[in-house]
Amino acid sequence: MSSPVSTISDIGKHEGQTVTIRGWLYNLRESGKLLFPQFRDGSGLIQGVVPKNAVAPEVFDAIKGLTQESSVIVEGKVRADKRAPGGYELDVSGIQVVQRVSESDPYPISPKEHGVEFLMEHRHLWVRSQRQAAILRVRAEIIKAARDFFDERGFILTDPPILTPAACEGTSTLFPVDYFDEQAFLTQSGQLYIEATAMALGKVYSFGPTFRAEKSKTRRHLTEFWMVEPEVAYAELDDLMDLAEGLISFLVKRCLEKRRGDLQVIGRDVTKLEKIEAPFPRITYDEAAKMLQEAHAKGALENKFEWGGDLGSPDETYISSQFDKPVMVHRYPAQVKAFYMEPDPQRPELALCVDVLAPEGYGEIIGGSQRMASYDLLVQRIHENGLPEEAFKWYLDLRKFGSVPHGGFGMGIERAVAWICGLEHVRETIPFPRMLNRLYP
Ligand code: 4AD
Ligand code: MG
Repeated sequence: MSSPVSTISDIGKHEGQTVTIRGWLYNLRESGKLLFPQFRDGSGLIQGVVPKNAVAPEVFDAIKGLTQESSVIVEGKVRADKRAPGGYELDVSGIQVVQRVSESDPYPISPKEHGVEFLMEHRHLWVRSQRQAAILRVRAEIIKAARDFFDERGFILTDPPILTPAACEGTSTLFPVDYFDEQAFLTQSGQLYIEATAMALGKVYSFGPTFRAEKSKTRRHLTEFWMVEPEVAYAELDDLMDLAEGLISFLVKRCLEKRRGDLQVIGRDVTKLEKIEAPFPRITYDEAAKMLQEAHAKGALENKFEWGGDLGSPDETYISSQFDKPVMVHRYPAQVKAFYMEPDPQRPELALCVDVLAPEGYGEIIGGSQRMASYDLLVQRIHENGLPEEAFKWYLDLRKFGSVPHGGFGMGIERAVAWICGLEHVRETIPFPRMLNRLYP
């Protein structure tokens, strides 16, 4: 085929011309002497029109009865059509079938409904469906936007190790690894290491995979997920909240700008996203606790919230459903948070920390804090948490040699994607999710 190759997403640039598309047969409707094949190429979907009396017989015969997901190179003339989903149709004039899917072993995912378990078992194929591909494009956009946000603001990307000798976020969710007869763990967060690079470079961030042996089977938990983590020397809690609301507004705006079509394919109500602009409401843990207790008294929440405990999923869902923007809950009791958080000087039983809860019931998408600056207090906390001081010797050095107030946060990419796309479950936000009962494919 001699015509210029175009992607489907760029096809509008070739209106009235003949182009070549390289992709797969997504679907085929046949009505007598007229065939309507739908082609996909990864960038989008386009409908072809093949009237028997207008094309060469071998073209008609090659498409008639062609099996779903057969790979094809198609040539045709681009025609604008207002009714077509992408705005264009293709008057097919030539086709080369690269590989024909066998009738006796057909593509397992048909346009009819399938159960989630079946789809998860066929995730390597499910990612080809229009909705799943749209979600993965939004994910890529969010990742790129997060990098742009930090790069444009003078942050230096520093990559922390994945194999680590100690816990960051508590010992109960560590994945052990045998490291040449030594005990190692897959990292739960890059934070401790980027505290070190922040002392070297001022403003840094990391973006990489993190691991939690989460025994919980919820719609928010993966065992392997990607986290973007900024860490800033001399930043205090209010600076972190400014940074978090800036980041989230930026991500949402970028998706609305560049991925509106994909959000529509996914079925997202974009009017909800259009409201996401800084500033976001900021409430203390105390205020959150009061809201939860009042909700229980009104019968809106089943369990009575006790001051001092962590917010559970239903609690987060309730609080976040009270606002149409993300809400920042700050100053939790230190006892429910990680060992490294700076106490509030006004009330040392509280930590200078913040969780950002996404609206529409999505719950926590960001967790962060100011870090403990005092050497002695940090040693004490390490002991209280039953952590091995030896493994944290290097981390304690940061408090010996020019300790400064500093802090940062982590945003789980999959939680952000789930919220921005409006998905039921994080399993659709990553190409190959890893969960309690899922290691295949
Ligand atoms: O709140 P977390 O545990 O905070 C930390 O790891 C800090 N060390 C980050 C920092 O301050 N640099 O995790 C941060 C975020 C959560 O808000 C959530 O978005 C995501 O990581 N996350 C998970 N996402 C999917 N599955 C899980 N099991 C997750 N656990 C945390
Ligand atoms: Mg958290």
